[in-house]
Amino acid sequence: MHDSSRQPELALLAAAAADYADAAELARRLGLPLLATGVEPAECDAAAALLIVEGPARRLQLTGRGAPGPVRVDFGSAGMRHRRHSGARELLSKAVGHGKKTVLRVLDATAGLGTDAFVLADLGCEVALCEREPVIVELLRSGLAVAAGSGDPWLTAVVQRMRLFPGDAREMGQTLIPDVDTIYLDPMFPARRKSAAVKKEMALFQTLLERSIDPADADALLLWALQQGTPRVVVKRPAKAASLAGREPSHCIRGKSVRYDVYVNRKLESVCLAK
Ligand SMILES: C[S@@+](CC[C@H](N)C(=O)[O-])C[C@H]1O[C@@H](n2cnc3c(N)ncnc32)[C@H](O)[C@@H]1O
Repeated sequence: MHDSSRQPELALLAAAAADYADAAELARRLGLPLLATGVEPAECDAAAALLIVEGPARRLQLTGRGAPGPVRVDFGSAGMRHRRHSGARELLSKAVGHGKKTVLRVLDATAGLGTDAFVLADLGCEVALCEREPVIVELLRSGLAVAAGSGDPWLTAVVQRMRLFPGDAREMGQTLIPDVDTIYLDPMFPARRKSAAVKKEMALFQTLLERSIDPADADALLLWALQQGTPRVVVKRPAKAASLAGREPSHCIRGKSVRYDVYVNRKLESVCLAK
């Protein structure tokens, strides 16, 4: 049985013999065990989840029979391309203030799997991605590297506007904040969401990211963001959830299942454009 008081068990696995050296190096860097190549995730009881190394790509796979499929960062996927035409993109665009400045600089302080950051970069924003969980950082790093080397002009141009800063946003923030127009927060959703893809990600996040599920953690992050003096702070919330830390936003952008709470500190137009 999974003991929630312990750190969840994670291990590295090379997808093939040719990946072993890279997997070993990553295992050493992350301080995680490396399993023998050839282990089947469905049969594995040595770890709750496996970070699988295959060429430049990394994927995270929960172990055991009936576990959902792997989670990876694939910015070139059909799902990501589909988002270019989705209403959700419009809501996010409006919330962060895209279009109010020539080039909007966004600090995505809870980068996760980089989906929202990619949407913002695709809109033309310069996006700094902060992520504090080392395994998620590796997924992001590989997703960015695979996209940058894809040869797809659209994809490579978009990821050029994304920079990854591993670590807690509250520490990274000190150097990044002076250049930032909007701080964007998407803390762990406490509510259940319905799509299969979201369920897969939630199963993974709930196994690996226990501290992000603590509502006090999200409250503290908003209070930190509001103290930074950036023109705008935006929080993604489930449509019916209370606002974080009991702080009422300046206004909300509402979608069907998601709401963006927008805290306006000052107008984006008033920010100096010459940098
Ligand atoms: C719900 S996920 C974000 C999903 C993301 N918006 C996306 O589109 O994929 C929240 C992520 O924020 C990260 N996180 C939470 N607090 C953080 C902090 N203070 N600094 C950096 N990362 C943080 C967690 O590790 C987790 O990966």
